[in-house]
Amino acid sequence: MTALPRHVAIIMDGNGRWAKAHKLQVALGHRKGVEALRAIIRESSDLGIEALSLYAFSTENWRRSPQEVEALMGLLLEYFTGEIDELDEKNVCIRILGDKDGMPDKQRRALFDAEARTKGNTGLKLNIAINYGGRAELVRAAKALAKKAAEGRIDPGDITEDVLASELYTAGLPDVDLLIRTSGEMRLSNFLLFQCAYAEFLFPETLWPDFGLKDYHAALDAFGRRERRFGGRNP
Ligand code: IPE
Ligand code: IPE
Ligand code: MG
Repeated sequence: MTALPRHVAIIMDGNGRWAKAHKLQVALGHRKGVEALRAIIRESSDLGIEALSLYAFSTENWRRSPQEVEALMGLLLEYFTGEIDELDEKNVCIRILGDKDGMPDKQRRALFDAEARTKGNTGLKLNIAINYGGRAELVRAAKALAKKAAEGRIDPGDITEDVLASELYTAGLPDVDLLIRTSGEMRLSNFLLFQCAYAEFLFPETLWPDFGLKDYHAALDAFGRRERRFGGRNP
């Protein structure tokens, strides 16, 4: 295989359309989506990818019907309580990107627990974006820096790109190298706005519940064929 991306980000989209195509309730589409996710996490870990960031629930997804939001919250809880042992065994280090405090009690506790339990793990860095918005993340970072400046702990003139990055949920992680959005939609929907500055984008048509290892390998191969210049000129 060609060079692997260090950091892969995935916008797991298309669960609703998958459910519709199979004449099933949307909740079943999300459930099927969780199954797809398991295989991709395992493969990322086995391949030795450094970081995997998955968009699971955006700050805008609260706009969906109460039934769908409830189904998603139920699945989240089920996922974190059911998978944590295996993830921990696989040495996966979980980080939640997003506002955990804005989550319902049980979910919030499960998210904090998952992070605490896998904190010292040195394998795949698995970031799950929940109640996440890229703009909200930047506002939060701006507030943190403004507070430090007001308290005299940082000189505004010393704020660099790296300093700002260190206030994001992804602090300490490399920038996103490869962004995959399934289901053919071609937009970021407020995901990792700062971190995707030089990411390579792929928009496979496959709906997320159908996204399997073959699709993942095809995406990684396509990434390996991209020529990245970062504004410079390759020889
Ligand atoms: C993505 O699937 C999962 C979440 C947003 C939680 P969608 O539910 O957005 O699927 P489509 O876009 O309706 O097909
Ligand atoms: C983005 O998908 C969020 C997740 C996959 C969790 P959406 O389906 O919510 O995005 P839009 O509304 O189509 O932009
Ligand atoms: Mg969608």
